[in-house]
This record gives sequence, structure tokens and C-alpha cells, in this order.
Amino acid sequence: MSKIVIGNWKMNGLQSSVAIFRSILEGYTPERAAKSELALCPPATLLATFSSIVAEQSSPVLLGGQSCHHHAVGSFTGSVSAPMLKDAGASFALVGHAERRAEGEDDEQVNAQLLQAQEADLTPVLCVGERQAERAQRQHHLERQLTRALASKPSSLAAPRASRLIVAYEPVWAIGSGTMPSAAEIASVCRSIAEQVQGLVPSDTRLEVLYGGSVSPANAADILAATDGVLVGGASLDAARLLAIVDAA
Ligand code: PGA
Repeated sequence: MSKIVIGNWKMNGLQSSVAIFRSILEGYTPERAAKSELALCPPATLLATFSSIVAEQSSPVLLGGQSCHHHAVGSFTGSVSAPMLKDAGASFALVGHAERRAEGEDDEQVNAQLLQAQEADLTPVLCVGERQAERAQRQHHLERQLTRALASKPSSLAAPRASRLIVAYEPVWAIGSGTMPSAAEIASVCRSIAEQVQGLVPSDTRLEVLYGGSVSPANAADILAATDGVLVGGASLDAARLLAIVDAA
């Protein structure tokens, strides 16, 4: 199965960053595209612009949102909903990223966001991971995050349309820190996440488990060999570094 590389620009990027995006598109040649899927999550303000460029160049680069609100529409000043991301050209949405959870998003909201993403026909990228202080209880912590995020609701959203689900294992202590678990540890955690998720989602779900947290061109090959792909923060802001990670797939 080909790997997936997802870049998360976080709160970085202005109209002037279009040049970086164009370099990414230019570098994502058919040879690279044959080896791995590439998706980029720019800030919401750039999504529609990037989407027009992708269309104009018929590029296979996919776009995603960095989060979506747990409601589809309404009086939620400053928020972006899953249908809005879809409308702006996204086909993915990150949900439950550690930096959103740190801003106060709880498991129940992450669950509703995931269902919103599926309802809007976006592939959810569910982010889970333990904080430094929770490392000794990692298994228990991940099980709780997964069970709560993947709970189905007895509502109109109960039957998800999307049959693809991506889970990103991102230890909070590894994000932006330059430190990370060993590739063997990452492989074992991703395997156990896959086993658990299989018991929580419909059997025809296409599940991929990625790793995120300080992924760089230097460590990408080992991590990609141990996972279905990577979620990349800092290194995705530079076209050459992001493409070097794609090359490591
Ligand atoms: P990083 O971020 O690659 O800069 O550590 C990863 C993430 O937050 O998804």
C-alpha cells in the first residue's frame, strides 16, 4: 500500500506563501505521486486559494483542514465547519490535534468533529497521543482517546459516509521537540492502535495509522517503514524538506 504524507502548516502562511505551495506542487512529480499520497493542511484562509492552484495545475496534491467545528453551521464566531472546509476544496480534516486539545477541545467535541467531517465527506485524520507525564499509562490513555473519539451517536450522523479513516499517533512530547520514540516503539504503538480501532469501526473501513511528532528528512525513512505514513508539522513549511520526506516513503 502506498504511504501518505500529510503536512500541517498550523498557524503559518500568508498569501506570499503561495510560492512555497507552488514549489511543492512542482516537485510532486508523477514518480513521487506513485510512491506516496501527499496532502497539505494550510490555514483555512489559504485553502480556497490553494485549491484553485491545484485545479489549475491538475495536481494530485490533496488538501485538508486543520480542525473543524463540532457543529455544521450556526452562531460560532471565528469557527470553521466541515462543510466549509469541503466547500473550500479540502478532502481531509485533522481532528483532535494536541494543539487544539490544549486549547480546551475535549473528547466529546473531537467525537462530534469526526462525525461532522465524515458527514461532510471529508476523511478524518484523528490525532491521539499521550503527554510526557502520561507515558507510563500510554496504552490506557490511547484506548480512552480512541474509544471516545470513535463512539457513534444515536443521531442523524450515526451512519458515516466516509469509509476511510486515518489515525495519527502523535505523542504530545514529540511535537516540535526534536525527540521521538524509537521506530520499533512507533511500529508497536501503531499496530496496537490499528487493532483497537478495528474493533470500533465498520469492518469495511480503510484504516491507516500514521506517526507525527518531529518527523524530518533525517528520520522519515525509518518511520515510514514502520507506519502507513506521517503527519509533518515544521518540516512541511519548506518545499524541499517536505519532498525529501515524500522521497523517504
Ligand atoms: P512537528 O509537528 O512535525 O513540527 O513536530 C507535528 C504535528 O503537530 O502534527
